Amino acid sequence: MVGSANVDLTTFSDRFPRAGETIFGEHFDLGWGGKGANQAVAARLCGADVAMIARVGDDLFGPATITNFAAQGIDASQVRIIEGTSSGVAPIFVESNGQNRIIVVKGANDKLLPADVDEARPVLEAADCIVLQFEIPLQTVYHTVKLARERGIRCIVNPAPAQPVDLAALAGVDYFVPNETEAETITGMPVRSVEDARACAAHFVRQGVKRVIITLGEKGALLAHDGGIDLIAPYPVATKDTTGAGDAFVGSFAVFLGEGMPERDAIARANLYAALSTMNVGTQKSFVTRERFDEEWRVRSA
Ligand code: RIB
Repeated sequence: MVGSANVDLTTFSDRFPRAGETIFGEHFDLGWGGKGANQAVAARLCGADVAMIARVGDDLFGPATITNFAAQGIDASQVRIIEGTSSGVAPIFVESNGQNRIIVVKGANDKLLPADVDEARPVLEAADCIVLQFEIPLQTVYHTVKLARERGIRCIVNPAPAQPVDLAALAGVDYFVPNETEAETITGMPVRSVEDARACAAHFVRQGVKRVIITLGEKGALLAHDGGIDLIAPYPVATKDTTGAGDAFVGSFAVFLGEGMPERDAIARANLYAALSTMNVGTQKSFVTRERFDEEWRVRSA
């Protein structure tokens, strides 16, 4: 995993304050987050050996983040502290329907540079799969994609949070996995329905992206490649907090695929793994173990 690590500061409230207004929140949660770290933890919980390439700040959160990786059984030998820089943090606001709004302050995540990826080459070259997101500099993402392509290592890119992107630099990516909002921001096309998502996914493929998966929340996930477009059905659950569900999807999908499952099966399982994460509050702390997942999968797929 080449990506971000944040500390999430989550406030739950019935509604958001208007400009100039102060309201009381229902409760508060402090937890480990960051799209890269979340996906690493999801992959680890699903049973993979995971190494994290990341940068953290020299504040209270930095060393504690490294300790958290170690506690999860994730190789953190390539997670370094940057002096004079804050760790990444994410104030998150969750409404009563479980929807979230997030502001990420990148801090040390922005200091993960191509040279750091080169330094981590021995770790990366030993991997079956490299997973990236957009909370680190895009030049580092492009550099890592190039490395993966040269070495024939499977590469998954989750373009979150969305930013203008050079799709040509991502041509070597095996799976490009935006959600609706990210797909919309990157292409400028509306993605408000499954039909919109189909048109958008087809656009990505025409632009040279090999395989696109647009995650659609409670509507499932859309897989597109030059052989066609498939909607893979969701699993209904009682949702409390959707924060990190996209990360649960990406991290678990990488593992299911790595186990040799056909991609549709891997996506169906990732849909369920992500759905289960929305039943609990928080990001990493809402991800279930492989044992719990397998139990639920047996019931749901019977
Ligand atoms: O995808 C959820 C994550 O986005 C949170 O953990 C937060 O840190 C931001 O990176």
